[in-house]
Amino acid sequence: MILIVGGAGYIGSHTNKALTESGYETIVLDNLSYGHKEAVKWGKFEQCDLKDIDALDKVFTKYDITAVMHFSSFIEVGESVENPEKYYTNNVVNTMNLLKVMLKHNVKKFIFSSTCATYGVPQKIPLVEDHPQNPINPYGRTKLMVEQILKDYDKAYGLKSVILRYFNASGADKSGEIGEAHNPESHLIPLILDAAIGKREDIKIFGTDYETEDGTCIRDYIHVTDLADAHILALKYLDEGNDSNEFNLGNGKGFSVREVIESVKKVTGRDFKVVETSRRPGDPAILIGSSQKAKEILKWDPQYVEIDKIVDSAWNWHKKLNKEYL
Ligand SMILES: NC(=O)c1ccc[n+]([C@@H]2O[C@H](COP(=O)([O-])OP(=O)(O)OC[C@H]3O[C@@H](n4cnc5c(N)ncnc54)[C@H](O)[C@@H]3O)[C@@H](O)[C@H]2O)c1
Repeated sequence: MILIVGGAGYIGSHTNKALTESGYETIVLDNLSYGHKEAVKWGKFEQCDLKDIDALDKVFTKYDITAVMHFSSFIEVGESVENPEKYYTNNVVNTMNLLKVMLKHNVKKFIFSSTCATYGVPQKIPLVEDHPQNPINPYGRTKLMVEQILKDYDKAYGLKSVILRYFNASGADKSGEIGEAHNPESHLIPLILDAAIGKREDIKIFGTDYETEDGTCIRDYIHVTDLADAHILALKYLDEGNDSNEFNLGNGKGFSVREVIESVKKVTGRDFKVVETSRRPGDPAILIGSSQKAKEILKWDPQYVEIDKIVDSAWNWHKKLNKEYL
C-alpha cells in the first residue's frame, strides 16, 4: 500500500485519485490542519500528526506500506519569514520523524514534494536540476534541508527517494470533485477567480516594471493532474530499482500575471477590477523550469500546456466551491 502523507491537501488528493485509478491501494495520513476530509475520496484515512511518532508507528504497524509520498508541509512563504520556527519544525523535524518510522519498518521508497523555491534567484532560465540551490526564504530552505537529508539517508541507510521540484501547481481534476482549496489562499489563479466571482474586490498586480514583455512577473503553471501522473511514474521508477534522483516538474512555458488575468476574463466571461501596485520583495521576474529530465527518464508527458485549459479546469471547480457567490 502507498502512504500519502498530506493526502487531504490539494496535490495529495489529486495524486490519491490517480494512484487509485492506476490500481494502487492507498492510505491518506493527514492532521487536517489545512487539508479537507471531503478531499479524501479514495483509500483509507488516518488522522494523524507527523509530530506524533507513536501514532505514526501504529500506522506503519497496521498497514503493509511499501512506499511513502510526502506532501505534508506548511507552504506560505511570507509566513515562513515571520514565523520560521513553525516551518523548520513541521517541514524538517516532522519529516525526520516520518523517515525515522519508515526506516524502523524497513520502508525505503520515498517521493518528496519539493519546490522551485529551492533554486532562489535564477541565474539562467529555464531552470535545470543542477542549477545552484540558494533559497531566499525559510520555506525554500526547509525544502532544501530535506533534500539534503534524503541524500545522506540514501548513503547511510539505503533509503531511495525521488525529489520532485514543482513549479506553480494549478488547475483541478476535470471531474470537478476535487480541486484547490487553500485557506488562506495565496495562489494566483484562485485569487483571480475570486475577483471574477466578486468574492474579492479586485486582483492586485505586484509590479508592472519587470524586464518582461508586459512588465509583469512570469511564472510556470503546471497542472495538478500532470503532477499526480509524475508521482506514479516516480513510484514506478523506484519500483524498478533505480537510484535516487530529482526532477523539475513544470510546464516549460511561462505566463505573465497579465496573461493569466486575461485568460480568466476570457474563460469566465467576467470582468473585474485589476489594481497595479508596486513590486513585492523577493519576487524574481521570471521563473520557468525545464522538465526535460522528467520527460526523458520518467517518460512524463504533461497534458495541460495552454493556460486557458488550466484556468478552465480551475474555474469548473471554483464554481462548485463558491456556489453562494454565483
Ligand atoms: N501548491 C504549489 O504550488 C506547490 C508548489 C511547490 C511545492 N509544493 C509542495 O507540495 C506539497 C503539497 O502542497 P499543497 O498545495 O497540496 O498543500 P496543502 O496545504 O493543500 O496540503 C498539505 C497537507 O499536509 C497536511 N499537513 C501539514 N502538516 C501536517 C502534519 N504535521 N501532519 C499531518 N498532516 C499535515 C495539511 O493538513 C494538508 O492537507 C507541499 O509540501 C508544498 O510545499 C506545492
